[in-house]
Amino acid sequence: MANSEYEYVKREFEFDRHLPASNWIVVRIDGCHFHRFSKIHAFEKPNDESALKLMNACATSMLEKFPDIVFAYGVSDEYSFVFREETEFYQRRESKILSLCVSYFTSVYVMKWKDFFPNKELREPPYFDGRVVCYPNMKTILDYLAWRQVDCHINNHYNTCFWMLVMSGKTEKEAQQTLKGTFSKDKNELLSQQFQINYDNEPAMFRKGSSVYREKVETKLKTDNYGNPIKRTRMAITVSNVDIIGPDFWERHQYILREEKYRYEYVKKFDNIHRLPRCNWAVVRISACQYDQFSLIHSFDKPNDETALRLMNASASLMMERFPDIIFAYGFNNEYSFVFQENTELYQRHERLILSSCSSCFTSFYMMKWKEIFPYKELVQPPQFDAEVLCYPKPKIVCDYLSWRQAECHNRNQYNTCFWMLVKSGIGENEAHEILKGTLSKDKNELLFQQFQMNYNNVPAMFRKGSCTYRQKVGKIAEVEDKGVAKEQWDVAVAHMDMGPEFWRKHPYIFNSK
Ligand code: GTP
Ligand code: MG
Repeated sequence: MANSEYEYVKREFEFDRHLPASNWIVVRIDGCHFHRFSKIHAFEKPNDESALKLMNACATSMLEKFPDIVFAYGVSDEYSFVFREETEFYQRRESKILSLCVSYFTSVYVMKWKDFFPNKELREPPYFDGRVVCYPNMKTILDYLAWRQVDCHINNHYNTCFWMLVMSGKTEKEAQQTLKGTFSKDKNELLSQQFQINYDNEPAMFRKGSSVYREKVETKLKTDNYGNPIKRTRMAITVSNVDIIGPDFWERHQYILREEKYRYEYVKKFDNIHRLPRCNWAVVRISACQYDQFSLIHSFDKPNDETALRLMNASASLMMERFPDIIFAYGFNNEYSFVFQENTELYQRHERLILSSCSSCFTSFYMMKWKEIFPYKELVQPPQFDAEVLCYPKPKIVCDYLSWRQAECHNRNQYNTCFWMLVKSGIGENEAHEILKGTLSKDKNELLFQQFQMNYNNVPAMFRKGSCTYRQKVGKIAEVEDKGVAKEQWDVAVAHMDMGPEFWRKHPYIFNSK
């Protein structure tokens, strides 16, 4: 079918998570509000044999329907389905697998209801929620199943005691009180002494839950001419109530969870490419690590080293030249944020490639420019920058992000200005922090003014406002080749001003540059 012009809404916005390769996929479903559901259908307490057998029948149908389910384990209103390690069921798409499992299980549950409850009307539609978990190796998948069976034991042991006490005349509260803090052996004693019940003789389905899997069975087809039976073995789906915690079961059924051989091309599937969503402005924020130490070693001025900030700005300007899709950049102190235009095709929007190349490129510019900007200072320690990528769907949100960074710049700079003025005046660092603790912006302005005759607003704008780096029209080149068309000439500008609405009104082209 030909793609319409609208088809991009699927291609570029629908992201279905593909579950990681070479992992056992477990879908665990659980009845929603089965406390109520079991009440209105008068299920026996604590275990209703028919209800559990219905669950098992549904699980059996699941293994029939989906051959890649190799094992299922169920207890109460829950069932776990284990898909084979290398399944390619729906290309391992999480939402497909999860929704199909709960949906098919539910429809079988409704369909088979009357087989198990011939005299009970289904009075309300049952439904299940589910989750998907991936287990990467044999140990974790076996531990997962053991965890569910231990849970089954603990709950059933408790419930058996609880309902025996209630049926013997205790109130539910009293029964709860009696069982509070009891250990497994206390519960066994209670059952045997008060009710002559040996817990180990309770039905295995209640104690062990139900395991569903394929097992080799021999069937006698007919007898040959000499009267010998002709047998055939086939794999049949089996439900059993056995111990799956210890190694015995798994030693006897090694084929169920065997690790599969796979071809070497499989390794490619582990390359999990994450692309930035379409029509979103990506922001790459770079910040220098261990900057305290770095600025100490290079004896940067406190609280602001003008030259170091100029070096950051120079590196940012080079970034804008290197990456034409950067429409705006904002930096202060040891960080810089780069805003990419909404439709950038840089690395086909591959997030990690954008992130790594930006942090590497910025580092490289910073190193190269060092000598020019610090001619008398040797770079004695290599700087390192980390980076993260943020994604914003609306220009308004990008502006709010930038305002947030600018507010951060203001807060930190005002604090640091006060702090270093106090320290330089002879006050200890701890004491200076103590003095500034809990102060508001206007308190700090007053402190600067009264103690140091300093008007904070006269501090250089680069320190107070940070640096905005963006393109600006500087004129026109009269003629381009022989076409006679005037071409606009742009330059990268660095300014230190408020990024309020006024700024964006004056620079409307920043977010409209295609
Ligand atoms: P959500 O799963 O959070 O929607 O709540 P839920 O009401 O289903 O409770 P949960 O899954 O935690 O526990 C299952 C509940 O189902 C139990 O508490 C019981 O009330 C009920 N249940 C499950 N199996 C049986 C059964 O064999 N007999 C009876 N009487 N109740 C059962
Ligand atoms: Mg439930």
